[in-house]
Amino acid sequence: MPAPGHPDDAAILAYLGTSPLTLPELPFAQNALEPVISERTIGIHYGKHHRAYFDNLHKLLDGTPMASLPLEQIVLESHGRADLEDVFNNAAQAWNHNFYWKSLSPVKTAPDEKLQAAIDSKFGSLEALSKQLVTTSASQFGSGWGWLVADRGELAVVKTGNAETPYTRSGQLPLLTVDVWEHAYYLDYQNRRPDYLMATIGQHLNWKFASENYARLRA
Ligand SMILES: [Fe+2]
Repeated sequence: MPAPGHPDDAAILAYLGTSPLTLPELPFAQNALEPVISERTIGIHYGKHHRAYFDNLHKLLDGTPMASLPLEQIVLESHGRADLEDVFNNAAQAWNHNFYWKSLSPVKTAPDEKLQAAIDSKFGSLEALSKQLVTTSASQFGSGWGWLVADRGELAVVKTGNAETPYTRSGQLPLLTVDVWEHAYYLDYQNRRPDYLMATIGQHLNWKFASENYARLRA
């Protein structure tokens, strides 16, 4: 039973929408984030790592009833199940990367009026929020993700380990994410994870995408 105020699976799916079990097109050219993220990094990250999560998922689900479910539902239903640990890891990583590419923009973007007001009220400014997103994401021990989420309607910055995604754990609904697995930055930044985060969060986060998510959340 979800806790009071905690969205149930139907509400989470209504917000997230549904995705097929296929690698989506990258929403920008592989060199579009240079020099912050190199074409080589994006090529391997999208073409090898992201693709492999979908390939693994197909192998794991082939011939099972779960194979016909949308990706988001597979993530929700496999979470916390010892017998479906591999399914969860690959499905959640596939979904997290779908969301990561949409969270990035080649051009500088800004939050719309409603999201900016919520950011100002919670964090003081977009700069303060960005700083917190850098600090929180950089502090993730090992592989994982940094997130801007809505937690029962209120903005929050959180991190998750490995394939974990906020909407399974606590019903927090994601607005933006940044990948802190080493494959996301190691070719370009080696051990300098904070430099990758400062450059990416400062220049390439897609605040238009976050604003659209925030509007859907309030609808
Ligand atoms: Fe990744």
